[in-house]
Parts: sequence; C-alpha cells; structure tokens
Amino acid sequence: MSDTTNVLTLETAILPVLTQRRSPRAYSPQPVPAETLHQVFTAASSAASCFGEQPWRYLVGTQAGSPEAFAKILTSMGEFNQVWAKNAPVLGISIAKLTFSHDDNPNAWARHDVGQATATMAIQATELGLQVHQMAGFSPDKLRAAFNIPAGYEPVAVFTLGYPGDPAALPDALREKELAPRTRKPLAEFLFEGAWPGLADERYDQATV
Ligand SMILES: Cc1cc2nc3c(=O)[nH]c(=O)nc-3n(C[C@H](O)[C@H](O)[C@H](O)COP(=O)(O)O)c2cc1C
Repeated sequence: MSDTTNVLTLETAILPVLTQRRSPRAYSPQPVPAETLHQVFTAASSAASCFGEQPWRYLVGTQAGSPEAFAKILTSMGEFNQVWAKNAPVLGISIAKLTFSHDDNPNAWARHDVGQATATMAIQATELGLQVHQMAGFSPDKLRAAFNIPAGYEPVAVFTLGYPGDPAALPDALREKELAPRTRKPLAEFLFEGAWPGLADERYDQATV
C-alpha cells in the first residue's frame, strides 16, 4: 500500500509514485522481507551508468538479521540523524567504485551514477509501500574502518529503509519537519532553453555602461 503522507504537489502532473516518495523520519518497526529488499536493490541495478560500469555498491544492516552491521552504520551518523534513524528496520550505505573496470582510469561519473541508482531504488521502494531517507550526515572514515571498505571505493551516502510510521510518535521538532508542506523550485529556476539565464541581460548592461 503506497504512502499517502505529505504527497508533493507540483505545477504539472507527474507519475504519482514520484510525488509519494519522501524522506520520512518516522518508521514502523515492521521488518522488510528479504524478497522485498531484493526487489528494491534490483531496481537500483536497472539504472544507467557511464560505460555501463554500474559503480554502485550497497552495504546493508537490518535490525532483525544483521544487528552488528546495523549498529556500525547507525554510529557512523551524526547524532541528529541517529535519533530517528535508529527506529528504521534497515540501514544502508551507498558506495562508489571510483575507477573504471575496463581501464582502471578514474571514473568522474561514479558518484553521479550511484545517485541515480539510489534514486531508482527509492522510487521502487515507494511503489512497494516503503520509503528511503538518504543522508550526508555521517562519517565515511568511520564506515571505512568499521567495514574495511577498500581503497578505490568511497561511501557516498547512508540511508534508512522501511515502512513509514506514525509521525505522531516523533519528538515535536521532527514531527513538524515531517508534516511541513513540501515545496519545489518552479521549472523557470532550473530549466533553461537556448541560453544560460541572465546572459542576455548582462550583455545589455555592458552595452549601456
Ligand atoms: C545526498 C542527500 C543527503 C541528505 N542528508 C540528510 C541528512 O543528513 N539528514 C536528513 O535528515 N536528511 C537528509 N537528506 C534528506 C533531504 O533533506 C530531503 O531529501 C529533502 O529535504 C527533500 O525532501 P524529500 O526527500 O522528502 O522530498 C539528504 C538527502 C540527500 C539526497
């Protein structure tokens, strides 16, 4: 059943699942079945990548099945993330392989492609009634040490995964964030046709000085 809390309203209709994807802090303790996890990460593997490298790696820890890994990921997070992330049934790390396999050259698009895979995974999760909350508030060095992540691989983000819970269970400040209206920039601020915005104005300014 899809999550209908705080659905995004946009200027033009898009796929409903994209408006239902959100980054919750309230999670249900309900465990995520192994088949569901496999489906979610299979979705990640469907993403496009430079040279077809598929530079993404995921390391997960579940409260029910791999509590030690769960604890290592949790303690790599800033306190502000730990307070709510500890209630999710699954924690994960997205990791980028930083070189191409075919020639060992640096892959400047590795992090881009990891982000694409994680975005695809998050959409599949939403479609299955789950939600993913990605985080930058963690220590890559702690994770590297805790899991012996080798040189050439870089932790990109950590995330929670699980069925959304009742926002009423959150502390006041987090509940307000959870239910605050979700907004997005209008297209005019990030979509430009034909020229970078402002260039015409700048030329005009120079011509009139
Ligand atoms: C790379 C990345 C890092 C983020 N880091 C954090 C974080 O450390 N803590 C947090 O609570 N949310 C974090 N977020 C979640 C964003 O705040 C959230 O995606 C954004 O506010 C939009 O909300 P929505 O995902 O519900 O649409 C992060 C999201 C991304 C993609």
